[in-house]
Amino acid sequence: MKEEILKKIEKRDIKIAVVGLGYVGLPLAIEFAKAGVKVHGYDVDEKKTEKINKGISYVKDVSSEELAPLVEKGLITATSESSVLSEVDGIIIAVPTPLSKTKDPDLSYVIKAAHDVKKNLKKGHIISFESTTYPGTTDEIILPLLEETGLVVGKDFFLAFSPERIDPGNTKYTVKNTPKLVGGVEPNSTEVVSALYSLALLNVVPVSSSRVAEAAKLLENTFRSINIGLANEMAIMCNILGIDVWEVIEAAGTKPFGFMKFYPGPGIGGHCIPIDPIYLSWKLKTFNYTARFIETATDINSNMPRYVVGRIQDALNEKERSIKGSRILVLGIAYKRDIDDVRESPILDIIDLLEQKGANVEYYDPHVPWVEISGKLMESIKDPKYEDYNLVVLGTDHSSFDYREIYEKAPYIFDTRNAFRNSGIQDNQHKIVTL
Ligand SMILES: NC(=O)c1ccc[n+]([C@@H]2O[C@H](COP(=O)([O-])OP(=O)(O)OC[C@H]3O[C@@H](n4cnc5c(N)ncnc54)[C@H](O)[C@@H]3O)[C@@H](O)[C@H]2O)c1
Repeated sequence: MKEEILKKIEKRDIKIAVVGLGYVGLPLAIEFAKAGVKVHGYDVDEKKTEKINKGISYVKDVSSEELAPLVEKGLITATSESSVLSEVDGIIIAVPTPLSKTKDPDLSYVIKAAHDVKKNLKKGHIISFESTTYPGTTDEIILPLLEETGLVVGKDFFLAFSPERIDPGNTKYTVKNTPKLVGGVEPNSTEVVSALYSLALLNVVPVSSSRVAEAAKLLENTFRSINIGLANEMAIMCNILGIDVWEVIEAAGTKPFGFMKFYPGPGIGGHCIPIDPIYLSWKLKTFNYTARFIETATDINSNMPRYVVGRIQDALNEKERSIKGSRILVLGIAYKRDIDDVRESPILDIIDLLEQKGANVEYYDPHVPWVEISGKLMESIKDPKYEDYNLVVLGTDHSSFDYREIYEKAPYIFDTRNAFRNSGIQDNQHKIVTL
């Protein structure tokens, strides 16, 4: 079976399905289609499948101009019918892996997707699971489910974990040129799934098991979470000591080895950095082990919105104002620069906390026209009059902001990203407060 499948892959005589057409699944589907592989997208959200079939993209990193010709050529189609999985050779799963309300891994989307695969599993199927998760998910949860069909992995079908490393908004490193780890639940699976990805991606890196691939992804994102946590704590400590943390980081960054710059900010957001390390610490809890670095970093990072609001309170105090009754404009609410994603964005928490304290808050984000915060709908204002506010809080440092204009017009600024100084502004008027 393995040789037969590898030959089919070599001849590009295969079709694939991508399960979950979100920030991860859609760009991946595009890459395979561009490589001439026919892709069926399967998503439970009919609004998304309808848009795709009309050639309309809803993911910022994928333009409709890129998608539409692939749809027209029949290289990408989308459906909400799981039976499509029986019509393809390869299945790539990219469904969400969030946390539950009690901050435990929520694998319900993964399990539903695995059941859909099981229902349609046939001899020769190549299955790659991409959703970020704790080590053991692929071989402890997905594999036994699929083998309930009587088909045997490595012989009848192939199963690997291949973490997605996409960095939304990054134009230098894309799905195509970011090295792709592949760890099979057994060696034949590693080989076959690696061959599948090699059709569309430039650099496939096989590893010895699905667990190594799962753990590697969690190490990458835990590394970021911990280092951002360290930068955030450094900001808190420097503030106590009266030292400019931004200058400290640049100074340390002149060391050409053994140091990497990470910056403080309003907290961490997105579907990855705040969540993935908790998948790892949760798994370790089942072995009675406490992942101390993860817990500490999570604690520091998740308290940053509260810390920022405390610092805003101090800043307003300097002007003999209270938060209550102040008009505050928050600039940028996406979790990072130049994207439209507000999942887990700490700036939403800052807005919520400021409103709880009686501020009149408005926001302006050219990438996020509206947002729901604590059940309340807020719309981005269209034409901000910076001079009308008591304080402008820079939440996300989008590159489209005219920092010079904002500086000239706003009476007082709290900059959580050091964006004004980074854009060359010297605060001669002494109206910027930074972290
Ligand atoms: N967004 C990122 O930057 C990023 C980067 C690396 C890894 N990841 C990981 O990739 C996975 C997917 O993340 P995302 O950002 O693409 O999520 P997303 O919410 O943007 O997309 C997931 C899609 O899956 C669909 N879906 C849910 N359950 C389904 C099911 N059972 N069958 C078919 N479709 C289903 C949803 O409708 C949605 O369109 C997560 O595990 C995430 O941690 C995300």
